[in-house]
Amino acid sequence: MVDTLALGGGLVVTLVLVLLHVTKGTKRSTPENLADELLERRASTVEETGFPEPMSRSIGGGGGGGVAVGGGGGGAEGEASEEEAGFDPSSIPEDEVEYYDIEFRKEGETIEVANNETLLEAGEDQGWDLPYACRQGQCLSCGGHIEDGDAHEFVRHGNNDTLSDEEMDRGYCLTCQAYPVADFSLETSETP
Ligand code: FES
Repeated sequence: MVDTLALGGGLVVTLVLVLLHVTKGTKRSTPENLADELLERRASTVEETGFPEPMSRSIGGGGGGGVAVGGGGGGAEGEASEEEAGFDPSSIPEDEVEYYDIEFRKEGETIEVANNETLLEAGEDQGWDLPYACRQGQCLSCGGHIEDGDAHEFVRHGNNDTLSDEEMDRGYCLTCQAYPVADFSLETSETP
């Protein structure tokens, strides 16, 4: 009798549990959520390293570095790029154009050359057949020699990718890119 009652009670309890399982089953977590939960649990078992998060490190470190480089190098870079940019003849207003007496020795004449005109252009205007190739300061075909001394003191180059400072110190210039800033004597067709 007791066994029957116990069996009946057990069945009832089992049925209730099954019913509960079925009715709540649809609300259970999906396998995906379970996986997330598992990952979170695993992550919680890993010790904290104390290092910043990678993203923070890249933002903080990279950004700071950029500022330091930009701030520190700004002035020097500006100066360097000014030198590399060369002289721009169009920066001279029309009413500030000046003329200098340039003696072309081989050609046997002294002519006036404006400070916004290259030695090569001025010579060509005279009808002289002067040497050149690139006309951009990138070769030596138009090379000339200033007889009066350091070329830095007599011309400004629009672009000079060819002559070194030392070669200019010795009086060499690129006539296709050289604008006069003083009177001088020039030997055309001369290269270092
Ligand atoms: S023609 Fe090439 S540098 Fe003058």
